[in-house]
Amino acid sequence: MKFIKQFFYGLSLLVIVIFSVMCKDEKKKEVTQKIEKVSIEKNEFGTTPDGGKVDRYTLKNSSGMTVDIITYGGIITSIKVPNKEGVSEDVVLGYDNLGQYLESSPYFGAIIGRYGNRIAKGKFSLDGMEYSLAVNNGENHLHGGIKGFDKVIWEASEETGENYAALKLVYLSKDMEEGYPGSLNTTVTYTLKEDNSLDMAYEATTDKKTIVNLTNHSYFNLSGDFSKTVLDQVLSLNADKYLPVDNTLIPTGEIADVENTPFNFREPTPIGSRIEADDDQLKKGGGYDHCWVLNGQDKGHRLIGTVYDPGSGRVLEVFTTEPGVQFYSGNFLDGTLPAKQGGTYKKRSGFCLETQHYPDSPNQLDFPSVVLNPGEKYSSKTTFKFSTK
Ligand code: BGC
Repeated sequence: MKFIKQFFYGLSLLVIVIFSVMCKDEKKKEVTQKIEKVSIEKNEFGTTPDGGKVDRYTLKNSSGMTVDIITYGGIITSIKVPNKEGVSEDVVLGYDNLGQYLESSPYFGAIIGRYGNRIAKGKFSLDGMEYSLAVNNGENHLHGGIKGFDKVIWEASEETGENYAALKLVYLSKDMEEGYPGSLNTTVTYTLKEDNSLDMAYEATTDKKTIVNLTNHSYFNLSGDFSKTVLDQVLSLNADKYLPVDNTLIPTGEIADVENTPFNFREPTPIGSRIEADDDQLKKGGGYDHCWVLNGQDKGHRLIGTVYDPGSGRVLEVFTTEPGVQFYSGNFLDGTLPAKQGGTYKKRSGFCLETQHYPDSPNQLDFPSVVLNPGEKYSSKTTFKFSTK
């Protein structure tokens, strides 16, 4: 009898132990699954002619969004997001291999710095000292120079949390690199979240007074079909004003009303509906290639624009802390560059929404300042958020 009692006592203890181990395992699984909701994976992408190793990081969530970023130029080479039927397709122009980026790229998906957009005649002054930058766009400086932030290799580190995966890219630009004063320590962090948003957080510090204006140069085509133009994709911009430009695309200094012009995107309007209008500014840009002065500049990170593709149902919302956005309708794409899906990228097969300070700010003292002093921190944040309707 005593033996039977002991036997059952032992058995029940064993059952309890097994049960609690099983529960623990289940819990562990739950936690692991949570951590794995957004993942990040690293693969080799290629080598530059001077022996620099370039990696590609793939950030993936469980809502169907995948983002590929390479350490060369911090370039976003692909963003796959679902259409209204749930089919994920690539919505950014770019290339499949490093060689093509090295050969010729109109800044596809890249980090742009130190100064996104144009500086008139490549000259500016700080405290009475004149600086000369590369003149690489007609008579002006564009997008950081000959070897801007889009053409350097960034140092990468990864971070994951329950509902996000982040890729942190760091680059130290030396004093007078591309003609800019001060050593600029720059960090760009891309964060993919479960809600199909991609955050880009920019930070920089300097050891000498300098200028900074960082952005990302992704070309979107929300249809997922790069043989189509973006002209029927519907844009809204929360901006009452824009900056008219001269023949070389430098702002004239006027801050003009969008009212009664083809630059009024306060109501959702197809990109192509007025692009061929008889308008002097559209002629100068060869289409849209202008900076909009965004509303709500004191409101920090806020929704500034939305693009909707009626065919696929995809929606892109853009949030930023920046005062301006360069809306560029891909006018200079000319059918010569090879597309990822085969064929070539033709005129207006992609649009850019480059959140930034105004072009030529160092020479236009009425524009918000782009000066960064030692001891200060440059910080800027933009989010691309995708959904469908
Ligand atoms: C500029 C365009 C330029 C393009 C480079 C845009 O940010 O506004 O004028 O051609 O970058 O591909």
